[in-house]
Amino acid sequence: MPALVLLGAQWGDEGKGKATDLLGGSVDYVVRYQGGNNAGHTVVVGDQKYALHLLPSGILSPGCTPVIGNGVVVDPSVLFSELNGLNERGVDTSKLLISGNAHIITPYNVTVDKVTERFLGKRKIGTTGRGIGPTYADKINRVGIRVQDLYDESILTQKVEAALDVKNQILTKLYNRRAIAIDQVVEELLGYADRLAPYVADTVLVLNQALEQEKVVLFEGGQGTLLDIDHGTYPFVTSSNPTAGGACTGAGVGPTKISRVIGILKAYTTRVGSGPFPTELFDEDGEALRRIGGERGVTTGRDRRCGWFDAVIARYATRVNGLTDFFLTKLDVLTGWEEIPVCVAYEIDGKRVEELPYSQSDFHHAKPVYETLPGWSEDITKAKSFSDLPKNAQNYVKALEEMSGAPISAIGVGPGRDETIEINSFL
Ligand code: GDP
Ligand code: IMO
Ligand code: MG
Repeated sequence: MPALVLLGAQWGDEGKGKATDLLGGSVDYVVRYQGGNNAGHTVVVGDQKYALHLLPSGILSPGCTPVIGNGVVVDPSVLFSELNGLNERGVDTSKLLISGNAHIITPYNVTVDKVTERFLGKRKIGTTGRGIGPTYADKINRVGIRVQDLYDESILTQKVEAALDVKNQILTKLYNRRAIAIDQVVEELLGYADRLAPYVADTVLVLNQALEQEKVVLFEGGQGTLLDIDHGTYPFVTSSNPTAGGACTGAGVGPTKISRVIGILKAYTTRVGSGPFPTELFDEDGEALRRIGGERGVTTGRDRRCGWFDAVIARYATRVNGLTDFFLTKLDVLTGWEEIPVCVAYEIDGKRVEELPYSQSDFHHAKPVYETLPGWSEDITKAKSFSDLPKNAQNYVKALEEMSGAPISAIGVGPGRDETIEINSFL
């Protein structure tokens, strides 16, 4: 059954955009199933670099239909500016489909995201400020606005009223801000309806029919396993389920249809925003990883926190996602280190722990237990097969594979589409 999920195995920014784009040429549909424009997915094709936030990375492959599933939150103004940007560069975006059940990020959700973070002060999550959390909160609270609501003015007005009833009280009385005018919001949202209309579809039906016809469907996750609202480092997480199960709920496809789950895994670790990160480095090695790896956020431009590879996290990702494969990215960034430490377990309150602790307090205390692997100095960016890699790089990959619990089926040795070593075919 040709349905694949491709997701982040760490804290996001593992290289999902590149991996999706690589497969995009061979698949019929690429589907985003959660998150929104908090994501920043970079795709490099030849000398062209694209930064995608809301649109599935498959949009750059002409034969592929990009789909925004019901589990995604959509900011229409961001959507249009992303579409305009691609159209100006000659990319055809006319095939895009958007679920009528996807929720809309309204201007007040963006406001609430920003004021809440400010209010939290040093306890802040470090969100992207794009309104993601408040929009999912409205969805769960049953006061969300869906894409389909833009086509019924009376329903839309009632729903905006319901949502703003409580929010305006909070904004004015708690945060000392001005109330948001209902009619202005309704007018702005209605202004998006016509341009959005050609894309709106019953994506659940489309995708299930495609699967019945043996079409190949790729589900592209945003964020990563450790940012998952249920399985991540709560509360320092995003407000959706990037893990594999999210593909089923966020696209309306049953778990029996999913044939392969690919975890994108960086050869070291990064994180943006607040929250625990056991292998984080505060020395020149961390600085070097940031510099060589270009570790700066695609969405917010924030420096990413950097650290060594953490096998405990990789094993956890294998477990909660049922990973069948890993795509190891950015191996080239590690070229030049004489020795490379890899975290194989944690020490928590004097005890060695092999698996990710479920307790938040324990995870905050976790100290990495390192094993050191020999590095390599040869340029690996031209490697086309596993045997082209220097022996120590091969051994590094094999060691990670053994520790992480699923086969490494591809290796990224550079940002470009063709800077990839394919070991086992994904299709
Ligand atoms: P995503 O959010 O998972 O799609 O990842 P980002 O695009 O936020 O960050 C990954 C960065 O690494 C981007 O700048 C990519 O172009 C780059 N990248 C992806 N794979 C590789 C690789 O194998 N080697 C190198 N050097 N860069 C890569
Ligand atoms: P991609 O898809 C890395 C982080 C934010 C913050 C937390 C919550 O490019 O891998 P949110 O705005 O989602 O409520 O913020 O999640 N975060 C990401 N970190 N990559 C991402 O996306 C992220 N999307 C959100 O920094 O810590
Ligand atoms: Mg990113």
